[in-house]
Amino acid sequence: METAEFETDLSLFKYDNLEQLPPAYRELGEDERTERIETALEALGDDVVILGHNYQRREIVEHADFIGDSYQLSKEAANSDADYVIFGGVTFMAESADIITDDSQSVILPSMEASCPMAGMAEALQVDAAWAELTAETDDEIIPITYMNSYADLKAFCAEQGGLVCTSSNAHKAFEYAFEQGDKVLFLPDKHLGENTAYRLGMESETVDWDPWDPDGTDAATAVDNDIILWEGYCQVHERFREHHIDGIRAEYPDANVIVHPECRREVVEAADLSGSTATICETVENADPGDTWAIGTEIHLTYHLQRWHPEVNVVPLCGDACMDCNAMRQIDPNYLTWVLEELVDGRERNVIEVAPEEKELAKVALDRMLEI
Ligand code: 13P
Ligand code: SF4
Repeated sequence: METAEFETDLSLFKYDNLEQLPPAYRELGEDERTERIETALEALGDDVVILGHNYQRREIVEHADFIGDSYQLSKEAANSDADYVIFGGVTFMAESADIITDDSQSVILPSMEASCPMAGMAEALQVDAAWAELTAETDDEIIPITYMNSYADLKAFCAEQGGLVCTSSNAHKAFEYAFEQGDKVLFLPDKHLGENTAYRLGMESETVDWDPWDPDGTDAATAVDNDIILWEGYCQVHERFREHHIDGIRAEYPDANVIVHPECRREVVEAADLSGSTATICETVENADPGDTWAIGTEIHLTYHLQRWHPEVNVVPLCGDACMDCNAMRQIDPNYLTWVLEELVDGRERNVIEVAPEEKELAKVALDRMLEI
């Protein structure tokens, strides 16, 4: 089978041409910064919309027009007619916004360093080579599904091979779609979300972890004996949670409920009461009865937000002080937000994320397939 060819590079920061923060913005205090952000937003009016992922720090979500999970924010981007979409999130989210907004709109990622490490674990260049190896071993049709947490070139690759994108809230539907189209699924890049989805569909015995570069791991010929092939990617923030953290919470708060993100390990999701996207986590706490205890197994900023937004609920981090923040999300510094907004007021667009046109068209196909399931 022929493989697609992509003009792409392997790099830690997908957009390492984006600009650094000018020195004059590095030491702003919170009061001055807030005042300057508000002044800039007033001047820009409806020309600008700020989208904030649930993992962004307080100083960013406070200025966001919409706060949500990656699926909700991509829908908000698609519905917005603002000239400038400022994305408080990570690179793959800003890319998705650029793919689904009009060409006349600009998507701005305030800081260049907000690159999700998990997205970097499955670069299109690598997947393309691995795909050739895998498809050479079987006549069965393999459908690639990529998690939203991936770069635009991988989304384009999936579209070209008959596959699609999914988020943590619709991964099960994407699997069902894929099994209607073909015989097997290659799921990228998050092996835990893939495994948790396989369990949800009762297909746990048909999965295999596959790392094409591990000489001691499963080889391609063996991998294709399974219906669900899981790429060896993971999120460091979510892998940290272990079953003993849930045991500890249940010992400390006997009535506690536990909710975790499906990027957590299988055994953690199984030991929790619920699992779901960051939007599901928010809704669960919002609907909790006053006095209930909810332990949250996800990025720590969301837990802090939930504590502020719902003081009537006892919201606790699942692994206490050991819970992590996401280093990529943290790069969206409020000083950067001030800078990109003030530059827009002066007529200059900084740190615009622009997906290459040929990738954009195909990646949109993969995203549209997701929006249709
Ligand atoms: P959500 O789609 O649930 O917001 O998750 C995004 C993410 O990066 C989780 O680590
Ligand atoms: Fe990526 Fe994990 Fe951060 Fe989500 S929490 S953006 S998956 S590193």
